[in-house]
Amino acid sequence: MKKKILVTGGLGFIGSHTVVCLHEAGFEPIIIDNLSNSQMSAMGGIKSLIGFEPTFVNANVNDTEVLSQLIIDHKPEAIIHFAAFKAVGESVEKPLMYYENNVVGLISVLEVMKAQGISNLVFSSSCTVYGEPDQVPVLETTPTKPAQSPYGATKQMGEIILKDNASWCKTQCLRYFNPIGAHPTAALGELPLGIPNNLIPYLTQTVAGLRNELTVFGNDYDTPDGTCIRDYIHVMDLAEAHVKAVERLVQNKQEENFELFNIGTGNGFSVLEVIQSFEKENNIQVPHKIGPRRAGDVVKVWADTTKVNNVLGWTAKRGLDEMMRDSWNWQLKLQKN
Ligand code: UFG
Repeated sequence: MKKKILVTGGLGFIGSHTVVCLHEAGFEPIIIDNLSNSQMSAMGGIKSLIGFEPTFVNANVNDTEVLSQLIIDHKPEAIIHFAAFKAVGESVEKPLMYYENNVVGLISVLEVMKAQGISNLVFSSSCTVYGEPDQVPVLETTPTKPAQSPYGATKQMGEIILKDNASWCKTQCLRYFNPIGAHPTAALGELPLGIPNNLIPYLTQTVAGLRNELTVFGNDYDTPDGTCIRDYIHVMDLAEAHVKAVERLVQNKQEENFELFNIGTGNGFSVLEVIQSFEKENNIQVPHKIGPRRAGDVVKVWADTTKVNNVLGWTAKRGLDEMMRDSWNWQLKLQKN
């Protein structure tokens, strides 16, 4: 019988791709998602890729009764907890909403796990915990910096809560760098609500004619071309990292109960390099201008991936050009619908 994996937020951007990869790796994904930042169309995408709709419950993880019943009914071997809000700016405007959803949500998941005897968890953390690092690339041991936003604080708190519960809960804590791209078939991708904050959805919407022009936030930073540098990672590579993390948990291979991994490619690219890669790969111009810096932006951050490569046995396989191609194909698919 297939091992069941409960995926909270399984209809979101990273969650939906992970559901497909879990199925392909021989697991049975079970989804709980309250559609607060996702859409049912993701289920259509999942079905078109795996041939059926996985079990799905429309609920908030803070609804511990529903969560408990789901766990009693399905007895998952592990939980991947994606369900969380992720917009830095919104978290500044609505901090309580972020603490409620991201911190209380995690506590709910842990309480139900403990009560039901489940002790395997994969947690979505973020490179935001490093803040503006003193040195790049960042290692898992690089000191974290005070959070720049309530969103960042919720990720730091999540890590602390999980470390404090390591006596009974085995956690794979994955610090994502900048997830972009889409499924290569364009069956799944990111569905940003409203005006996107992030670079790639804004860029693809601009090229599609939905926005006038992309603004590059500052070109006077201390980087080779003056624009900020990030470690962009293809969402399929990220999804595959979750499968590796689940396998490590269910095969009892963890060396410590709380394990932390950087999930990036190890390569940093500037905003202008991203634009150039998009233009070259898709043979289409990106209308853009240089604007002022965006408050709170980190200048440069990319991952040291030695630990995740050697210990988890995972390496990102897809390059920036592939990310640009898949992101654009996804946008084209959205235009057609
Ligand atoms: N950028 C632009 N123009 C835009 C949007 C973004 O120039 O319209 C630039 C930003 O200034 C930054 C880069 O593109 O240099 C990437 O910006 P994103 O908003 O796509 O991503 P961030 O690195 O700011 O944020 C991401 C996630 C957060 C996470 C953070 C950790 O969205 O959830 O990484 O560093 F916390």
